[in-house]
Amino acid sequence: MKTSTVTGKIDRVASPLLVVFAVDTASDKKVPTIKVLASGAVAKAAAELVSNGEFAAGSCETALLHKPAGLKAERLLVVGLAKATTAEVRRAAGAAVRFAKPRKLKSLAVVVPEGLDAMAASRAVVEGAFIGDFDPDTYKSDRKDQGIAELSVLAGGAKEAAVSAGVNEGTILGEAQNFARGLVNEPGNVLTPTVLGQRAAAMAKEVGLKCEVYSTEKLHELKMGAFWAVSQGSVEPPALIVLTYEPEGAAAEPVLGLIGKGITFDTGGISIKPSDGMEKMKYDMGGAGAMLGAMRAIALLRPKVKVISVCCSAENMPSGSAYKPGDVLTAMSGKTIEVINTDAEGRLVLADGLHYAKQLGVTHLIDAATLTGACVVALGMVNGGVFSNDEAAYAKFVEGLKISGEKFWRLPEEDDYKDQIKSQIADIMNTGGSRWAGATTAAMFLKEFVGETPWIHLDIAGIAWLEEQKPWIAKGPSGAPVRSLVEWVRGYAAE
Ligand code: BES
Ligand code: ZN
Ligand code: ZN
Repeated sequence: MKTSTVTGKIDRVASPLLVVFAVDTASDKKVPTIKVLASGAVAKAAAELVSNGEFAAGSCETALLHKPAGLKAERLLVVGLAKATTAEVRRAAGAAVRFAKPRKLKSLAVVVPEGLDAMAASRAVVEGAFIGDFDPDTYKSDRKDQGIAELSVLAGGAKEAAVSAGVNEGTILGEAQNFARGLVNEPGNVLTPTVLGQRAAAMAKEVGLKCEVYSTEKLHELKMGAFWAVSQGSVEPPALIVLTYEPEGAAAEPVLGLIGKGITFDTGGISIKPSDGMEKMKYDMGGAGAMLGAMRAIALLRPKVKVISVCCSAENMPSGSAYKPGDVLTAMSGKTIEVINTDAEGRLVLADGLHYAKQLGVTHLIDAATLTGACVVALGMVNGGVFSNDEAAYAKFVEGLKISGEKFWRLPEEDDYKDQIKSQIADIMNTGGSRWAGATTAAMFLKEFVGETPWIHLDIAGIAWLEEQKPWIAKGPSGAPVRSLVEWVRGYAAE
């Protein structure tokens, strides 16, 4: 999708589909007072459409007018916002794209909504359009490419510089999010750890990042006993992917570490999962996918801060060579781990990833992982779980959420929960104390490998995959939390 900023008179813009946003400003929603967030001829053309009582400006609600009077555009689409916020604009722009796609309208012109910060609003328009444009249909042999070819963002009365900056950022973030979604959508037989490493290397080359991809030998050399154990049941070798971003002008510290769980398929291993729904476990590399997407955006946005990403990729399989319940592993940090359940493999690969990142000089850690079903039980598919041992790092993350529009809910990682992972025969066990507070148990395990380093853990099991389509996004990989990761990193950048 090609994006551009267009200035000048909106009524003179020739487009198959001109999109404007509208909101109900009535305090009493019983008598709607629809306000179109545009002025002049566009507002006039939309007035009749929104005042006849058929359109309530609900979130992502659409109303279409052919041959709008006084406009050069062929069609005018009004999309409702529940509230005049950038988060709603993002969704509404996605809904406009998903309206256009099945109608084979390849080109869209969207009016930057008036009354919002022009840069943030135009960025949201573009992000939303990319999100709406993605469909997970790569493997359909009769696939018709209904993708949007062109998106023009119409500045209207807004400052051109702000709109064009928003369009630029929105394009980078939207493409990065869809890059992550593309990876997560790949089936396990295609996207093995080796292939994930290759895709990371290709992306790194494209955007100018340093990339190293290692496998079994390096895991042995680094004594990554936990990560290696998870990989040992599969014929597919593991991949340790390290991306480095070191811009000129960045301070020596902080060095931010982005650690991703990259299980390309999680059968559960010897503690095998029930077959019902197991096919979805190809998305168990969603954490790594998000880190790679975020690194892609970071390389293009060029914030002045050092970032290293470590993604630990393996396939969790049962076999004659698989690790077993009862095995005792020695992690890279030297800690010993009693394996209780081979399905709690994500925390094992992350244990070595977190420790390795610290060895590479990382001063602040953030990890993302489709880690526990318990997090989905607690928060459903609306909020991801966030855990942190550091208030300053957490505050930066929360600041970033205001921009990214992604949703996270904080869960505890207090030492009172440590008993859950106490082992009789090793330093810790990978699960087992009790089935309660499972998301926290996993976080407590990770915390053992973080030490004093400020750290944020994102459990994205519930939000990395959408079970149902929404008006603004297809069913399947969501690309969360790419945008929040990028904003967290930008929060540390020098001016
Ligand atoms: N990849 C799963 C977590 C998961 C579950 C992600 C559902 C998405 C949806 C993880 O490796 C896992 O299996 N965790 C176990 C941990 C348990 C054995 C302590 C779980 O959540 O059941
Ligand atoms: Zn598992
Ligand atoms: Zn898993």
